[in-house]
Amino acid sequence: MKKSLHLPKIIGTGSYLPEKILSNKDLEKMVETSDEWIVTRTGIKERHIAKEDEYTSDMAYQASLRALEDAKLDPKEIDLILVATLTPDYIFPSTACLVQQKLGATKAAALDIQAACTGYIYALSIAKAYIEAGIYQNILIVASEKLSSIVDYTDRSTCVLFGDGAAACVVSSNSDKPGLIVDAVTLGADGVQSELLILPGGGSRHPATEQTVKEKMHYLKMSGNEVFKHAVRRMENASKECLEIAEMQETDIHHLIPHQANLRIIDAIARRFSHIPSERVYKKVVERYGNTSASSVGIALDDLMKEKKINHGENVLMTAFGAGLTWGATILTSDR
Ligand code: ACO
Repeated sequence: MKKSLHLPKIIGTGSYLPEKILSNKDLEKMVETSDEWIVTRTGIKERHIAKEDEYTSDMAYQASLRALEDAKLDPKEIDLILVATLTPDYIFPSTACLVQQKLGATKAAALDIQAACTGYIYALSIAKAYIEAGIYQNILIVASEKLSSIVDYTDRSTCVLFGDGAAACVVSSNSDKPGLIVDAVTLGADGVQSELLILPGGGSRHPATEQTVKEKMHYLKMSGNEVFKHAVRRMENASKECLEIAEMQETDIHHLIPHQANLRIIDAIARRFSHIPSERVYKKVVERYGNTSASSVGIALDDLMKEKKINHGENVLMTAFGAGLTWGATILTSDR
């Protein structure tokens, strides 16, 4: 593998979860469901929900502050802000611009990335490319989702799955601060399957009208079973491809972080990586926070970093999958 002179490294991470908790018991009062069904089918016990006046950019800002503090970086040193979200504050301007303003990151360019649940990994790949090309020194990645704003809380097949939250990291070039080197990234997409997971209303195809609202087209729709099968296969393949790119074996991986959508999906992926011990497969986010889309793997990574679970020389394989369809995987190596 050709190595660049500019080494992209995550030197700080942060995350933010809104205060309010929506438990399975709470959902039992809203739709015909049960804690037992939700836990057995998804592994989710509770999720956090943002306040009505707490927006995607606010959660992104909080996670960013934590990542910048961890990296000991001033917002004015950021060259580029990448925000991964499918629930932006507005269709435009970008949420990245709102975060830039909140942080006072006056030097930074700002850009939103729409790759659904794979957004954090798509953002990492963009940051890696900019840094390796020698274009930017410090890039802030933020994934933030207010999924409660697009979930239909009368539809039991989706409302039990999703939660709100944000995660951020700072990727820097050739930093002497310890962190996680972004070794390899692989991405994929299949637009043929775009209708499996979709928010049909509000865009140029179906601009908001009384009719679109009546037909609930401003809510997320998902063919759960189909998405499930794709999720397992796509994340397995992306992870294997990423191992090849990094010239690593399964046995080189110390932590596997799959997208935290459903415990059964995580377990199915874990079974396909039999050389990675099950206790090294991260599962905690899905149980506590539900599916937080783009933020999910970022929250998990921050959790492992804060708990000091990733030791010097260890490799982290992170993989995600989402609407689009999109998928991706990355391998990070710790020099902490
Ligand atoms: N409570 C009780 N019963 C329910 C509920 C609920 N909350 N939801 C559905 N059911 C019922 C269904 O109506 C169905 O009943 P029926 O047999 O009488 O018709 C039965 O339970 C089984 O439904 P399935 O949809 O077959 O259940 P499944 O085991 O497939 O689980 C789930 C559904 C959890 C949605 C699963 O398919 C899944 O996790 N899919 C993947 C989601 C995912 O990975 N998304 C990632 C991307 S997200 C993004 O990009 C934003």
